[in-house]
Amino acid sequence: MTRIVVVGAINEDWVASVRHRPGPGQTVVTDRFSLSPGGKGANQAVAAARAGASVAMIGAVGDDDSGRRQLQALSAYGVDVRGVQKIIGVTTGTAFITVTGDGENSIVVGLGANGFLAPGVPSGLPDPAVVLAQTEVGPDVVNAAATYAAEVGARLVVNNGPVVPLSPATLRSADPIVVNAHEAADILGSPADPAEIAARIRKHTSARSAVVTLGADGAVFSDASGETAVAGVQASQVVDTTGAGDTFVGVLGARLAAGDGVRVAVRAAVAAAAESVSWRGARPPRD
Ligand code: RIB
Repeated sequence: MTRIVVVGAINEDWVASVRHRPGPGQTVVTDRFSLSPGGKGANQAVAAARAGASVAMIGAVGDDDSGRRQLQALSAYGVDVRGVQKIIGVTTGTAFITVTGDGENSIVVGLGANGFLAPGVPSGLPDPAVVLAQTEVGPDVVNAAATYAAEVGARLVVNNGPVVPLSPATLRSADPIVVNAHEAADILGSPADPAEIAARIRKHTSARSAVVTLGADGAVFSDASGETAVAGVQASQVVDTTGAGDTFVGVLGARLAAGDGVRVAVRAAVAAAAESVSWRGARPPRD
């Protein structure tokens, strides 16, 4: 099996399904509320493992019940959690999520232990083919992951969501940098036409390649051979879009690690993301 090291956030998701989101000063009630495992990095690790990769996770949890639940949820998919730091006296990251009937989500993340993750990779991990770094753990950790990828000769995939200022060296070695259209607009300073958005991100960041996800419309990527659009795949039903981007990134990383070209990898990632919106929560119901 091809190896991936995923560096990123681990959270517990507190999910409320609501008819509409509360406005300022407003309270809404719901009888549909759940706790589930989440965190963009951890979701990506699970998606990569489900896509057949052997995955090791670098991240942080608190010394609390939530942290123990997150480690268990990752291990249940065979993700190696020896690189997950336990931070004493700090809570595990928590995401507060509302999901409306159209499947759209909005999220507030309490970083908790993710904000205390020390940059660097523990010794003893077998060298990976791909290092997948996700920015909810901050730029220093992602820059250190890029250095590690260069040292072991791994391909670096950077998911700059949420957008943070990464070092020029990290951006230059991203192959690809992956963002959604909102994040792309943040980076570029204004929304861009889907026909040129990936090329503009690649040029702006100097990344080796760039992938921009477009939700139901699929994704576009740009590399040395130009810009290519991959059409969206019709979802069987849209229940919850939470974590669809993470499924995309995890599957993309797994397929690149397995040796697929970018076009094939992006196609597989688009299909997996379309499937993911049919389940509630950021992770699939257990296979
Ligand atoms: O992308 C979805 C994820 O974002 C959730 O699982 C939540 O934890 C936040 O990190």
